Amino acid sequence: MTATLIRSNDPLLQPYKLKHLTLKNRILSTSHEPNYSEDGMPKDRYRLYHVEKARGGIALTMTAGSAVVSQDSPPAFGNLLAYKDEIVPWLRKLADECHDHGAAVMIQLTHLGRRTNWNKADWLPILSASPVREAAHRAFPKEMEDWDFDRIAKDYASAAARMKAAGLDGIEFEAYGHLMDAFWSPATNIRTDEHGGALDNRLRFTLRILDEVRRAVGPDFLVGLRLVADEDWERGLSKADGVEICRRLKNSGLIDFLNIIRGHIEHDSPLADIIPVSGMKASPHLDFAGEVRALTKFPVFHAARINDVATARHAIAEGKLDMVGMTRAHIADPHIVRKITEGREHEIRPCVGATYCLDRIYEGHEALCIHNPATGREATMPHVIARAEKAKSIVVVGAGPAGLEAARVAGERGHKVTLFEAANEAGGQIRVATRLKRRKEMIGIVDWRVAQCERLGVGMRFNTYAEAHDVLALDPDAVVIATGGMAQNLGIEEGAGLAVSSWDILTGDVKPAGDILLFDDNGAHPGLTAAEFIIDSGSTLEIVSPERFFAPEMGGLNLVPYMRTFAAKGIPITTMTRVRALSRDGNRITATLWSPYTQADCGSRTVDQVVVENGTAPLADLYFALKDQSSNRGEVDDAALIAGNPQSIRSNPDGKFQLFRIGDAVASRNIHAAIYDALRLVKDV
Ligand SMILES: Cc1cc2nc3c(=O)[nH]c(=O)nc-3n(C[C@H](O)[C@H](O)[C@H](O)COP(=O)(O)O)c2cc1C
Ligand code: SF4
Repeated sequence: MTATLIRSNDPLLQPYKLKHLTLKNRILSTSHEPNYSEDGMPKDRYRLYHVEKARGGIALTMTAGSAVVSQDSPPAFGNLLAYKDEIVPWLRKLADECHDHGAAVMIQLTHLGRRTNWNKADWLPILSASPVREAAHRAFPKEMEDWDFDRIAKDYASAAARMKAAGLDGIEFEAYGHLMDAFWSPATNIRTDEHGGALDNRLRFTLRILDEVRRAVGPDFLVGLRLVADEDWERGLSKADGVEICRRLKNSGLIDFLNIIRGHIEHDSPLADIIPVSGMKASPHLDFAGEVRALTKFPVFHAARINDVATARHAIAEGKLDMVGMTRAHIADPHIVRKITEGREHEIRPCVGATYCLDRIYEGHEALCIHNPATGREATMPHVIARAEKAKSIVVVGAGPAGLEAARVAGERGHKVTLFEAANEAGGQIRVATRLKRRKEMIGIVDWRVAQCERLGVGMRFNTYAEAHDVLALDPDAVVIATGGMAQNLGIEEGAGLAVSSWDILTGDVKPAGDILLFDDNGAHPGLTAAEFIIDSGSTLEIVSPERFFAPEMGGLNLVPYMRTFAAKGIPITTMTRVRALSRDGNRITATLWSPYTQADCGSRTVDQVVVENGTAPLADLYFALKDQSSNRGEVDDAALIAGNPQSIRSNPDGKFQLFRIGDAVASRNIHAAIYDALRLVKDV
């Protein structure tokens, strides 16, 4: 591979020489498993995802996330199977195409140890340094015995050799929360043999693996470790031991770089301190990584919520890092480097830290960005919108996430776009959610789109409740109805009118008052956002939920900040229970609780206020008013939609415009669904 060297004073754009490899700038995407694998292989979807980042100018993409080296390390979230020979041609294709764009490609390999479960793949028992259960994956590991060491060290080496054969530029081993570092940490290693106790013993297996690996790949192939250098845990690996491990690894001469992690991942809560979500501290471990670099004088990579270019630039300019990881930032916008080099830094789609991407993989889904639906869908969805051959007149109604995206995409197509919004500013339900200060970063989803719409000359008409005649007066070729929804309350049998909605609370229409019962009949962000808002206002709260598991639509990492507040304030949470009826009790309200299991009432609460979260009901009057005048009568060809093809239904020959209804104006869903609706319908209009 020949890297194109960019001449610029920008510290981020300076090339970096790692042994024989010249990386063309200082930005990398650290390893992350997006769960795009098919049969454990990095097939087309996987490849296109990484090639997009290469096309966007990134210097190094670290593929996989925890590609597994052994069969007794069954995939936890679609991990690639690095122990299979058939992975080589798939990776070679991926690497070749990334190399064509000047990006280097490495891969992360691991044995997951106790960070997986035995009840899948080949049903082999999982193993670790000691039989200490990991809370996140809930399996009890076997303590490794003598014959496991040989086998697994050889598995690491043969997997490394496969990666070299595939033409990758290097590998890193994952050593935080997985098998390798389970030996380092006193929290997970309680052995009394030659692998326990003194640091020499705890490092024995790692050095043996690295020896085997070097024998397999030779001295010139790049090998690094993504490792914990301080578990930040009283039971865990200390900073002193962690830094000493870094020194010893450097001195072993067996590795070429360190990718620094601080913290531990045994549960969602500490994991969120390693991969902070929105509202949590930005770049929390950058100084620590810089310290390790200064102490070891060895190449250091690092990523942890460095999601803006200014911080990344600072990290390089100040010599804290050699390569700065902007991983979720690239999930949100794979073209960051290209935009920097073209002087369009301000056009970078911001990563708002929503961590929808990561939360999804822990629930068995693929990683998707909350506000970039093209990521991971490169085969059908464009990151760069093509201009239409002919400019059309497009009307969009509603400036929530769906409508803003529709207007932005139509603007990129070169159309004349008019966007109506009844409120005095854009944002819809996102703006409501950001009334909770901790979630204010989410407004980036709105602000970025408003800025793009301004750049593209979209006519934005606020404070305008558009009626059919307003739309028709513009003689549109296409109309997109993105009028959203209104809070609904369908779940309570009697006395539903006595409740207020989570939305009433967040918008400020109703002030939280006294003792409050919140019935969360949705299990997603809106109810919990209202709950945290209520707690912040000083009211007392109980949450009642019909779900078997609390907040099932919330990802594990997103739940962390909420649960930290709920636990700190001792908020009672009653699950598997419905609120069946409400009745007046003086100036208070009595809520009758009901069990879906006994199908009978199961108690009551008397409170000052009952708040209900039950999703939204579509606001679709305008859609129905326009439907019969449209050429498609609002109908969508699902097959074309799924394939990413244009909509061509013309069921009404008299109709003069295409009509589409998107987002919550169709049904109560989420931000990603709303934005994806918009992109896939409007990209071909
Ligand atoms: C979907 C997803 C999967 C991830 N999987 C892995 C993994 O398998 N191994 C790993 O070391 N880090 C993994 N990470 C963590 C990232 O490499 C990175 O450390 C993290 O996202 C913080 O960096 P950022 O703030 O730049 O995104 C994952 C992150 C995401 C978003
Ligand atoms: S889902 Fe959120 S955290 Fe993940 S890439 Fe998108 S904006 Fe960033």
